[in-house]
Amino acid sequence: MTKKLQVAIDGPASAGKSTVAKLVAKRFGYVYCDTGAMYRAVTVAALNKGIAVDDRPAVAELVKTVKITFKPGDPDQRVFLNGREVTRDIRQPEIASNVSAIAAIPEVRVAMTDQQRAIAADGGIVMDGRDIGTTVLPKAPVKIFMVASAHERARRRYVENKKKGIATTSLADLQRAIELRDQKDSTRKVSPLVQAPDAIRLDTTHLTIDQVVDKISEIIEKKRDQF
Ligand code: DC
Repeated sequence: MTKKLQVAIDGPASAGKSTVAKLVAKRFGYVYCDTGAMYRAVTVAALNKGIAVDDRPAVAELVKTVKITFKPGDPDQRVFLNGREVTRDIRQPEIASNVSAIAAIPEVRVAMTDQQRAIAADGGIVMDGRDIGTTVLPKAPVKIFMVASAHERARRRYVENKKKGIATTSLADLQRAIELRDQKDSTRKVSPLVQAPDAIRLDTTHLTIDQVVDKISEIIEKKRDQF
């Protein structure tokens, strides 16, 4: 039987991770897990309960009661917060602007990391996020660090939001928001966005989705042959 690997895909916001990760998972028959969606779901839980996202003790208590699960869906994987669907809620601008604060809380990261490791335990998983290769799955045999220019990432997010009918700001505002989030994600104290030393860096600015999927697939196949 072919070995089912753990594949970690990290990188900044809107570098194309989730689109590519989903397609790679499909190609190999692996499970896909969007860890950003999990932090977004915790943010939904906090805001629904009227908890301020920087109220660490309250959020730390809350996260103990939060379980996030996924179901396959098209085009987006469906996300559930304690059994209630939040697939659309997690993409709202209010969540995007508050999620960095939630993701910076150590108790939230510990709880999400535990849930992510449980999801990945049997292998055959493509997990995307910021700290998968460094913290969640440090032994993953395939680690990709996907980057693209802030301008190109803003353009992609703009097109995606329009397609999904999600209210969006101007392209320039989107780019500024992306740069701000990059900065927060890479300078925070716990699990900052950094490339794992053994990750392969992939700049997707000038690549099509198919080209990126092909490149990652080649890397997985090569690794798989070594097992
Ligand atoms: O990929 P995304 O935009 O859905 O991520 C939402 C937020 O969650 C973003 O601010 C970074 C954070 N995040 C994180 O800290 N660690 C992860 N593994 C995934 C996302």
